[in-house]
Amino acid sequence: MSRSMRIKGPSSIRGELSVPGDKSISHRIAMLASIAKGSSRVHGFSTSADCQATLDCIERLGIKVDRRSQELIIHGRGLFGFQPAEAPVRLNAANSGSTIRMLSGLLAAQRFESEIDGDASLQRRPMARIIEPLKRMGARIEATNRNFAPLRINGQQLKGISYASPVASAQVKSCVLMAGLHAEGRTLFSEPARSRNHTELMLKEFGARIERQSANAWSVEGGGELKPVDYQVPGDVSSAAFFIAAGVGLSGSEITVRSVGLNPTRTAFLDVLQSLGANIVRSNVRQLHGEAVGDLHAASGELRASSVITLSGEIIANIIDEIPILAVLATQVRGTIELRDARELRVKESDRIRTIVDGIRSMGGEIEEFDDGFAISGPQRLTGGIVQSAGDHRIAMAFAIGGLMAHGTTEIRDADCASVSFPGFYEALASVTEPGAVELQ
Ligand code: S3P
Repeated sequence: MSRSMRIKGPSSIRGELSVPGDKSISHRIAMLASIAKGSSRVHGFSTSADCQATLDCIERLGIKVDRRSQELIIHGRGLFGFQPAEAPVRLNAANSGSTIRMLSGLLAAQRFESEIDGDASLQRRPMARIIEPLKRMGARIEATNRNFAPLRINGQQLKGISYASPVASAQVKSCVLMAGLHAEGRTLFSEPARSRNHTELMLKEFGARIERQSANAWSVEGGGELKPVDYQVPGDVSSAAFFIAAGVGLSGSEITVRSVGLNPTRTAFLDVLQSLGANIVRSNVRQLHGEAVGDLHAASGELRASSVITLSGEIIANIIDEIPILAVLATQVRGTIELRDARELRVKESDRIRTIVDGIRSMGGEIEEFDDGFAISGPQRLTGGIVQSAGDHRIAMAFAIGGLMAHGTTEIRDADCASVSFPGFYEALASVTEPGAVELQ
């Protein structure tokens, strides 16, 4: 039985904290280390349930993982080194779209059969976007109604292709590039807008033959073995986003989050807040494995949109995970924030347009729903209320911050799902809020 959280607002936040390791980077390092030849050392691996699902999957594929307190050692066995104990091997991606979509790229090229499945939410998410390119590479994959998990994958020798993806998705890109590592010849992938580029940067670290072909296109040569790495995962900026939004949106607040990833394909959310006048400082910025890392400092002040701000087009892929918290914050901004071209939100861990609209309304707020987004005018006085997380981690956490903005009490139902990306989120929140503001039921 998942617990509820009770949040009493209004409350400011003050202090300093760190957040779990970056979830996107952690999935990739686990998968790529497992197909490198030799042992990789990973510091700061994400404690999220999603990334634990990836680790469990690679262990079932016969990869030894030493879980030490501060680091992981992943004993990679080369491109074709997986040795599952059962056939077909059954893998559980739980709630994680990244696990099922990216790992399928590796499984499609192996010399054994596998079945990969997940929870009820994952079984509703579209998989045709990876099945289509993998089939073109020669993969054999069966799915429920050709689109949904469980996926049954019969590994084949793959061939390189040139693929123009209709969606800007880093999961699809990573799946195709990972399959391309095993394919004959070269694989070229392009996408309509630039999605997060962690896979490309990391493949370079592993010594893969990967090249940028144009702004949104990459190629990889198949057949080259990867060399193991010693890797430090930065804090997850998408987790830091909840505290940054609270820091800029709750009067009397000031917060510092140390050592978070500041890769420009992930920080458009910070740019949007700064364009609203938010007081955010990035400091101590350095490069680590090709990724920018630094500290974030946020303090409250007036937030103002120049009458109507429309977020649409290419920026959407770069703010996709921060939209729930952006919607909550938009209720506190003077002016109107409109979001368009974000239909993709409807196929995330929940239908996030629906769950955002329902959440804002249950807290006494106003929001207009579109098929591909929403519009919010502020500032609004939220009253609090009962918010259903729908089992979606980012919805639960975004509305917990909403609870601090409200003049009243907010109950987040099914709040434990925060651990999908941020175990210890409520404890971290309680450590920076006023006593009694955050209460686990
Ligand atoms: C992710 C890519 C995004 C994002 C997800 C993580 C990744 O999904 O929403 O949380 O790590 O590649 P899409 O690739 O489906 O847009």
